[in-house]
Amino acid sequence: MAAKVILCKDHQEASLRAAGLVAQALLEKPESTVTFAAGDTPLSCYRELIRRQEKGELGLGKARYIGLDEWLGLGPENEGSCIATMNQSYYHPARIPQERIFAFNGLDVDPEAEARRLQGILAQWPLELAVLGVGVNGHIGFNEPGGTAQGDFALVPLSETTQKVGRKYFQGRPTPLRGATITLEALAKAKRVVILATGAAKREAMAGVLAGEAGGHKGGSLPVYAFLNHPGAVYVLDEAAVAGAGSTKE
Ligand code: F6R
Repeated sequence: MAAKVILCKDHQEASLRAAGLVAQALLEKPESTVTFAAGDTPLSCYRELIRRQEKGELGLGKARYIGLDEWLGLGPENEGSCIATMNQSYYHPARIPQERIFAFNGLDVDPEAEARRLQGILAQWPLELAVLGVGVNGHIGFNEPGGTAQGDFALVPLSETTQKVGRKYFQGRPTPLRGATITLEALAKAKRVVILATGAAKREAMAGVLAGEAGGHKGGSLPVYAFLNHPGAVYVLDEAAVAGAGSTKE
């Protein structure tokens, strides 16, 4: 396996390590094209990036941000949508200029055309850095286990697990049945991929990653495994996400 695994004590340490990796990439190339996952896991990492910017250590506003995914039917005004989460937790507090943000509009009346627009954006500006979370079922973005999405950006059905788990973003209300996502194919083209997974809920999905690290991974279908052979991929995990499995602490 070419990817690296960094095992951290807890969520806080993992967030700081992930932020360090992102900061390094953006210091090297501030105008990088990046995608940042929404969801709960990376929010402390984003806070740390913003803190570093406020201290004058780093500039976040030159990068080009392409939204990783979105729930179909939801837009910026809908609490729990990916764009609402990113606006509140990152784009607005980090003062990212609107013209540097390219996100799928979940409210577009023609989602297929909107997906083609994102596909065109990714063709024009291929990703250089991806910061990803992991679903409890091992999904990445909205690339679900067993998914067959092709191209760089796709509309996909969401698994029952994603719909069920996703209710945490919507105060228990039912989630949309479909999503839009940057595909694994497009994510794999990024020079650097940071995959952040913390907490016991991610343990099952992480078992195969650790098996890969130990050289015992026989291949498999979970999207989270897609980066095991990526030379620029770093899985940043905490002890709760890997409890019981052996790994090397850096
Ligand atoms: C959200 C996304 C999802 C989440 C994943 C984990 O943009 O890409 O794949 O990263 O569902 O979500 P949390 O971090 O809330 O456990």
